[in-house]
Amino acid sequence: MAAGHGGDDGHAGALRGAARPGGTADQDRERSRGQLPDRDQQWNRDQDRDQDGGQDRDQDRGQERGQERDVDRDRDARAQRPVGGWVALVGGGPGRPDLITVRGLELLRRADVVVVDRLAPRALLDGLRPEVEIVDAGKAPHGHNLTQEQINQVIVERARRGLGVVRLKGGDPFVFGRGGEEALACAAAGVPCEVVPGVTSATAVPALAGIPVTHRGITQDVTIVSGHVDPSHPGSTVDWDAVATGPGTIIILMGIGALEQITAELIKRGRPASTPAAVIRDGGSGDQQVVAGPLADIPALVAQAAIQPPAVIVIGDVVTVRNEIDTLRQKEF
Ligand SMILES: C[S@@+](CC[C@H](N)C(=O)[O-])C[C@H]1O[C@@H](n2cnc3c(N)ncnc32)[C@H](O)[C@@H]1O
Repeated sequence: MAAGHGGDDGHAGALRGAARPGGTADQDRERSRGQLPDRDQQWNRDQDRDQDGGQDRDQDRGQERGQERDVDRDRDARAQRPVGGWVALVGGGPGRPDLITVRGLELLRRADVVVVDRLAPRALLDGLRPEVEIVDAGKAPHGHNLTQEQINQVIVERARRGLGVVRLKGGDPFVFGRGGEEALACAAAGVPCEVVPGVTSATAVPALAGIPVTHRGITQDVTIVSGHVDPSHPGSTVDWDAVATGPGTIIILMGIGALEQITAELIKRGRPASTPAAVIRDGGSGDQQVVAGPLADIPALVAQAAIQPPAVIVIGDVVTVRNEIDTLRQKEF
């Protein structure tokens, strides 16, 4: 499979792979010892530049003292850094194992620990070295295996042990992925953390069903919304009025549970009941399922087709483009 590890047989924690063009010998040595993810290398270069200092001899003494304090503070922070450990928050894309980024796959191959979500491309786990620890974070809608707090603890604790941790998520880590919280937890713990963006299901799942979320002559405007909370619930923070009355495409994630309420609210607040809509379940998988129809009929169509999460809801005239694109998609290659 795509993440095969043939020849990847180094010791745990080692950062393998070819030396980068442009890297210095010292950086390459440090990298191969597993001590420096890329951010640290940049940080060190910044440090070296800072410590060279004195390029501008005319600078104000107060400014010099400020810089010295900065250098001291950075040196202290560096002293507290874990040796060798790192965390990468990797967006795995919408589920197909070949839709992860090159960088994401590279870090996955280097990881000692992989903390994986339910909607991440789990087929990639088959290609990991046998000694890699796999922590299942679950994240099923109502059955979390680990709480967010526990996930934060696991990634920080493993990195502090000097291990390379990949936090493998579905889609993009920063789109309804709680990646920001994990990045903040790493920052608070002084653990080096790299964010590897992923292909978000918000745009990729419609694309895989032949629906462009923007289209010249139809719309230049797209809004991505969480449908996790019923719009009539006091805890809803989405501005449904703005979403309903805007002109563009509406993409709703996590919206199957509250689909009936969402469509009713959108229509009540101004979206025409006849607006084309589609629901795509398990986008990109061999089991992908699409239902389409006017907004007012979508809840009934979804119920009829027994569509369960995960699914992306697309509302807007762009849905009609699918009819033409679908004909092209007949020609598989
Ligand atoms: C918690 S959100 C995470 C989104 C993710 N971070 C991203 O950027 O795609 C989970 C929701 O993403 C959508 N989703 C993710 N993968 C999907 C897929 N393969 N097919 C359909 N919907 C998907 C569903 O709406 C699901 O409820």
